[in-house]
Amino acid sequence: MLQLNNLTKDYPTPGGRLPILADVSLTFNRGDAAAIMGPSGSGKSTLLYLLGALDPPTGGSLTLDGQNPFELDEARLAAFRNEKIGFIFQDHNLLPQCSALENVLTPTLVAKPNGNAVERAQTLLKQVGLAERMHHRPAELSGGEKQRVAIARALINQPLLLLADEPTGNLDHDTAETIAELLLDLHRQQQTILIVVTHSAELAAKFPVRFELADRKLLKK
Ligand SMILES: Nc1ncnc2c1ncn2[C@@H]1O[C@H](COP(=O)(O)OP(=O)(O)OP(=O)(O)O)[C@@H](O)[C@H]1O
Ligand SMILES: [Mg+2]
Repeated sequence: MLQLNNLTKDYPTPGGRLPILADVSLTFNRGDAAAIMGPSGSGKSTLLYLLGALDPPTGGSLTLDGQNPFELDEARLAAFRNEKIGFIFQDHNLLPQCSALENVLTPTLVAKPNGNAVERAQTLLKQVGLAERMHHRPAELSGGEKQRVAIARALINQPLLLLADEPTGNLDHDTAETIAELLLDLHRQQQTILIVVTHSAELAAKFPVRFELADRKLLKK
């Protein structure tokens, strides 16, 4: 379960504090899938970074699986993130010098041993349709293929929480559609909590729950 309790986020700026999120309270359960929309600059990425335990809130608290990650020390926080959270960025963030398979394996290098990681990575790459591309480097993959690798990498440790920030933002319409279906399929299979930020109403419409971030609040649509 993911619980947000009165989450608040301000950024310090030379002109004073810039408020981005105010008193956001919500609960997500395993198997939930939600899309978050909202104007540019409304704080969607900021919220996703908080949920991904990449940046602490200014106020309020967040718990994932009963743990407030921001109470952990640096090393435990990194381990917690690695074990419980998968993050997919708009721009895939793959390691350029590593093959698709090696990229998918990176989160397993620091995790506690859990079965045969290479086998799981290969299975995931097959599931995302890249059986024939496992040894290609990012520069040898198309945009959609890179995003498939990023999805496989986000899922390799079977995270409870899967977060994606405009995962189809850089893709053409048909590729975006395929990637969205793939994400939802894998989410259903693995029963993660899936939260996706998107500017696309078409993508958002595929989600059972939709939110709009506006005026520093998350409103159910
Ligand atoms: N580190 C920072 N310091 C100060 N202000 C910031 C910082 N990061 C983001 N902001 C500001 O916070 C606001 C929200 O940014 P955020 O990136 O969350 O928006 P967004 O909803 O994801 O927008 P987009 O749809 O364009 O990606 C913006 O006005 C941005 O300028
Ligand atoms: Mg953003």
